[in-house]
Amino acid sequence: MTRFDLAHWDLYNADQVGRAPRQLCRDLLARAGEGAGRQAVDLGAGSGVEAAALVRAGWRVLAVDPAPATADLVPRQVPPALRAGLQVRVAAVQDVFPLPGAHLVHASYALPFVPPSQFARVWDGVRAALAPGGWLGVTLFGERDGWATDPAMADVLTFHPWAEVDRLLDGLDVLVVDEREHDGPAFGGTKHWHTFEVVARRLR
Ligand SMILES: C[S@@+](CC[C@H](N)C(=O)[O-])C[C@H]1O[C@@H](n2cnc3c(N)ncnc32)[C@H](O)[C@@H]1O
Repeated sequence: MTRFDLAHWDLYNADQVGRAPRQLCRDLLARAGEGAGRQAVDLGAGSGVEAAALVRAGWRVLAVDPAPATADLVPRQVPPALRAGLQVRVAAVQDVFPLPGAHLVHASYALPFVPPSQFARVWDGVRAALAPGGWLGVTLFGERDGWATDPAMADVLTFHPWAEVDRLLDGLDVLVVDEREHDGPAFGGTKHWHTFEVVARRLR
């Protein structure tokens, strides 16, 4: 197993089961309101904790993640009576385009794991999927993240200086950019984290 191969993500995601939905997801839900059957997409859905929170709030959710256990793990987070509201694709986001039109796109700690060579296409696909009025919540990694200087990560992960984050959000109504920098735990160790948590909305 190497760092960030799919076996790694299966272990990571299994470890996440039972925690509360992340703040980014809760913030999106507070702003976007009840899904009332509207379409949401959770990219890099991981354990399915956030996908389940979205389904519970009445969203129809497409959960996308390439980790093999996704097919089993994500539905298990959703009560059986609500599972009709969940669709799971075991795939990398760059392999599922075009995404369905969505009123909410959530991608927590997932898009940085799209390789730099694919990121622009993925970002264009995410923007294209956002319906008018649709909500976007994403985590991006900043340029001072500890992994950014690791040569083994250079072709694997995508990092953005603030100016690029700003450009990626061009034309959206940007409600939150929470830039954080701290030393803290990572799966299997400690690292310097530099992240941007973004909540934005397509106006028209
Ligand atoms: C740090 S975990 C985050 C999972 C979850 N969103 C969360 O917040 O706990 C990163 C997830 O991204 C997934 N992932 C990695 N590369 C991906 C890609 N190209 N497209 C979609 N998901 C990807 C991994 O399988 C893993 O489940």
